[in-house]
Parts: sequence; C-alpha cells; structure tokens
Amino acid sequence: MAEIKAAITAVNGYVPDDILTNFDLEKMVDTNDEWIRSRTGVVERHILREEGKATSDLGARAIEGLLKKRGISAEEIDLVICSTVTPDLVFPATSNIICEKIGAVNAWGYDLAAACSGFLFGLQTGASFVETGRYKKVIVVGADKMSSIVDYTDRNTCIIFGDGAGAVLLEPSTDGLGIIDHIYHVDGTGREFLHQKAGGSLLPASHETVDNKMHFVFQEGKTVFKFAVTRMAEVSAKIMEKNNLASEDIAWLVPHQANKRIIDATADRMGLPEDKVMLNISKYGNTTNATLPLCLWDYENQLKKGDNLILSAFGGGFTWGALYLKWAYDPQ
Ligand code: UT7
Repeated sequence: MAEIKAAITAVNGYVPDDILTNFDLEKMVDTNDEWIRSRTGVVERHILREEGKATSDLGARAIEGLLKKRGISAEEIDLVICSTVTPDLVFPATSNIICEKIGAVNAWGYDLAAACSGFLFGLQTGASFVETGRYKKVIVVGADKMSSIVDYTDRNTCIIFGDGAGAVLLEPSTDGLGIIDHIYHVDGTGREFLHQKAGGSLLPASHETVDNKMHFVFQEGKTVFKFAVTRMAEVSAKIMEKNNLASEDIAWLVPHQANKRIIDATADRMGLPEDKVMLNISKYGNTTNATLPLCLWDYENQLKKGDNLILSAFGGGFTWGALYLKWAYDPQ
C-alpha cells in the first residue's frame, strides 16, 4: 500500500479591516516610519478593534473561507488544531470555541502553544494524524490577536506585532506530495528573553501585575534577534542537507515574518535569491501564529504542484524549526 502523506489541499487567511500604520505609531510613541521600515520591514499591520471579538473570531473567519474554497462543509472536519498565544480564555481552548462558531460539530480539537513557531509545530502535529490513515480532514489554524497583549506605549514591541489568522486543510495523499520532513527544537533557557510575565500559574493576575504592565509581551529584542538569525538559518540549511536539496531544488522559502533582516539571513544561508522568498511583513507585521499561513495564502496563486517548500520559524521559548513539503495543487 502506498505511504499516506498529509498534503495541504486548501489555504485561507483573514485579517481585520482596521490598519495601524507606521505614521499612526509615530503619534503614539517616540519612533518613525524610516526606523521601523529599515529595522524590521513593517509598514502597517491590521488590528482587531471590534468590541467583543477575539482570536477565535479571526480563526473562524479564516476557516469559513477555507471551507468555501475547498467546497466542503464544517461537518466533514475531523480535527481543528489552533496554534495561538492569545487564546480567547485560559480555558476552554480557542479551538473549542472556533469549532462552535464554524459549526464543526463532528470535530474535536485543542490549542497548541509554541509562540511564533506554533503554526509550524501544529502543522506537523496535524499531519501526524492524517498519516495514521484515521483522519481525513484536519484543519490547522494559526490565529493571534496580538493587540490584546501589546503595550502601545512600548516602542520596542508595539511596532512589530499585528492581528490575523491563517488556516490550512490537511488531507491524505498517496502520490508523494505533502509534508515530507521536519526538524524542530525547543530551548527553555530562552524564555526570559521573550514572554508574558504574568497571568499564568507562576504569577496569577493581581493589581500589582496589572499596575506593572506584566500582562503585555516582553521582549529583549537584541538577544532574540541574535538567536533567531542563527537558529532559523541553521535549521533551514539543515533540512535541505538532510533531504539532499540544493538551493535550485527549492521553489519557495516560507519564513516566519518577525523581521526582514532575519528572513534575509535565512535566505542567504540557504543560497536562495529574493524572488524565492515569501514576504508580506510590510502588510501585516508579525502576526505570531498567523505569519506562515498568511504567506501561503498571499502566494497561493504562484504555487505549483510538486513545488518544494521550506517553512521555517523562530519564536519565544525559544522554539524553532523547519519543515519540508511538496505542494499538492496547481493554482485554481
Ligand atoms: O517573532 C518572535 C521572535 N522575535 C523576533 O525575532 C524579533 C527579534 N528582534 C528584532 O526584530 C529587533 O531586535 C527589534 C526590531 C525588536 C529591534 O531592532 P534592533 O535593531 O535590535 O534595535 P535595538 O533594540 O538594538 O535598538 C537600536 C536603537 C536604540 O537606540 P540607541 O541605544 O542605539 O541610541 C533603541 O533605543 O534603536 C532605538 N529604538 C528605536 N528607535 C525608533 C528601539 N526601538 C525603536 C523604535 N523607534 N521603535
């Protein structure tokens, strides 16, 4: 019997309408458009401002469009894995809420937290279910309302992040297309450099934690940058080596969109020219778990059946990794 692989058979994204530009940020903190563009590559980001809306709404919108594109109903979905660092609630899982919102009454699901590597880790997790042969339709959704944990008086972080969601459908394939390999890592010693200090069991919410702004993203940018540049490049080169891929064999690098300089370093190390690198950080900023599927969504029309793609990410934790897949369909 032919080996079952998990192939991405549809992709869709969703970003809220409201846009926060670098010029808007100039009025909020001591920064400027030129600095933000040259140091990060971000020009604008989308922000979910609608009252009462949360990460699940971003995820649900992305999935609704995904189902429509693939022409299937929510009842057909077996499993929904939601990668996020901004769950609607501490519990239940955002995946539960998404399933309810989209009407996925036959699915089960859970959330996966691995900071900016969450979607990448979720993709392999979802693929493993499909590869067993027991699961036919698995959705992996990366969704984050980063604006809910960003301090808009902190110029170190507020210029980077944006809100958004992206989802892929994984289905079995027996023609050699789909997810081929991955190399993933975690290193808990990195946690002090990028984290949210309070709100967990270590430091539950209190007047003091709120007064001290401990529920916002904290990042020691320089240190994270150094690790990200090294590790993301290293692991991306390593997965090529492991699979005997030369740079000419790669159709696209799909990199986490945290900083254009990190992306450039990764592409350099892989020997890839700019036109093989997916880049949309200028439009969305760093949407954490949504960056990779938003890239696939934006570039979907340029992807051809059989294309070799390397997805790679680095995030808080630290977490990092790279995944190799063969794209499974031509532009519609
Ligand atoms: O997605 C998860 C993983 N996260 C990442 O990969 C992010 C990694 N880090 C980064 O992308 C970068 O470190 C940042 C974009 C966060 C910061 O860029 P940087 O080149 O590391 O800047 P820096 O923190 O070293 O600051 C350089 C200078 C400093 O001024 P002095 O000390 O040289 O006078 C900062 O005070 O730039 C100043 N600065 C700013 N200036 C204008 C810092 N933030 C700003 C700002 N606007 N927003």
